[in-house]
Amino acid sequence: MKDLDQKRGFTTSLGAITAAAGSAIGLGNIWRFPYTLGQQGGGAFLLVYLLFVFAIGLPIMMSEFVIGRRSQRNTVGAFRTLGPAYRRWSFVGVLGIVAAFLIYSFYSTVAGWTLNYVLLSSNGALSGKTPQEVSQVFSTFTSGTWAPLLCQMVFLVLTAAIITMGVQKGIERYTKILMPVLLALMLLLCLRSLTLKGASAGLSFLFKADFSKLTGGSVLSALGQALFSLSIGMGALITYGSYIRKEDNLFKTGLCVATADTLIALLAGIAIFPAVFAFGLSPASGPSLVYEVLPNVFNSMPMGRLFAVVFFLLLSIAALTSTISLLEIVVLWAVEELHCKRTAATLVVSLLIFGLGSLCTLSFGPLSGFHIAGYGVFDLLDRLTATYMMPIGALCLTLFLGWRYPKAEVREELTNNGKLKAGYFRVFYFSLRYLAPAALVIVLIMGILE
Ligand code: PFF
Repeated sequence: MKDLDQKRGFTTSLGAITAAAGSAIGLGNIWRFPYTLGQQGGGAFLLVYLLFVFAIGLPIMMSEFVIGRRSQRNTVGAFRTLGPAYRRWSFVGVLGIVAAFLIYSFYSTVAGWTLNYVLLSSNGALSGKTPQEVSQVFSTFTSGTWAPLLCQMVFLVLTAAIITMGVQKGIERYTKILMPVLLALMLLLCLRSLTLKGASAGLSFLFKADFSKLTGGSVLSALGQALFSLSIGMGALITYGSYIRKEDNLFKTGLCVATADTLIALLAGIAIFPAVFAFGLSPASGPSLVYEVLPNVFNSMPMGRLFAVVFFLLLSIAALTSTISLLEIVVLWAVEELHCKRTAATLVVSLLIFGLGSLCTLSFGPLSGFHIAGYGVFDLLDRLTATYMMPIGALCLTLFLGWRYPKAEVREELTNNGKLKAGYFRVFYFSLRYLAPAALVIVLIMGILE
């Protein structure tokens, strides 16, 4: 308990919002969202995605805050702390910890790439290149062995260092400044991309909904993307909820985080797709998309090299505020439940992550021929977590809070013991009890059967 007390306390409501937004906004918005949308056919995917974010994602995010703030505990201990009768639900927390572990493994691969792109842009390795040459730089780097592993390791060390030094001050102080700068740069990128010749084809791809392209699988991947992007369904925001002040408004916090997260994803789409079409690239090229497209946009801008460095640096920081929350889920559990020392837990977990994470990284190179159930290690973990584990975790959370935990207590937590108005409560509770679980079950079944 001592550790929790010591760490607790975002000092302002803005601090809570920026920390949760820091967890939500990351590679999921700028790297995963565009490439998934590109693979799943564009506009129709976007509509379904937006629907999932606000109709299901926001209520689940608020639920995680409620569980976290009420229990003041890690994701596993939270259920037991809410009442001995809920002890059995701790498995939801365990599922979350496993998911965090797996996500961090492949996420750190991409975070490492991003870090290297800071270097590549600053030493001019991407400047003055044709789109084909830019793609070549990406595949040469990612298919190597030592360079991508080293970048991943540096990223893991950075995250571990922040976690051991104590999270709150760092996150609160820096995200407040850096996120708005990232937003400004994204706007600039959008502007450049939109003024490229042939940009309109990209806009139609992004915003024109062609529902014939939607399949059960693409609806499931829109759901997975929504949960992944909001960092929900696995207890990250239970962990952060335990740091939110009692007087803060959980609904407002959730709404701000979901809106900011969606805004950044949309801007990433607007920055990327017009450029994809203008440069004659394929929107469905997968995880490499952002790294093959954006350098071309920078190359077509005055002072592009400088902007590229700043952009990839900020993207690395956005990734860092997400990996901090991923590692924090596991470390807080180890500290509170297994009574480990924070430093020791951080070290051991990071080493284990590097073990699995290096397989993800190498699956683009030396291990590219190694497949499990038809997937490389990276793709397997990405799919397993976002498409299955997070929706299942989210389903369990809605069942717990909507059906098992007393409604009056949920209301009490959301209204800060009756001090806040909660006109939204009926809609929220309806989604939690009926809409979200039904949609989650249907989408999961549709996606699995396909
Ligand atoms: N939401 C993060 C992103 O979009 O990059 C990824 C993530 C962070 C997922 C933390 C889950 C999580 F617990």
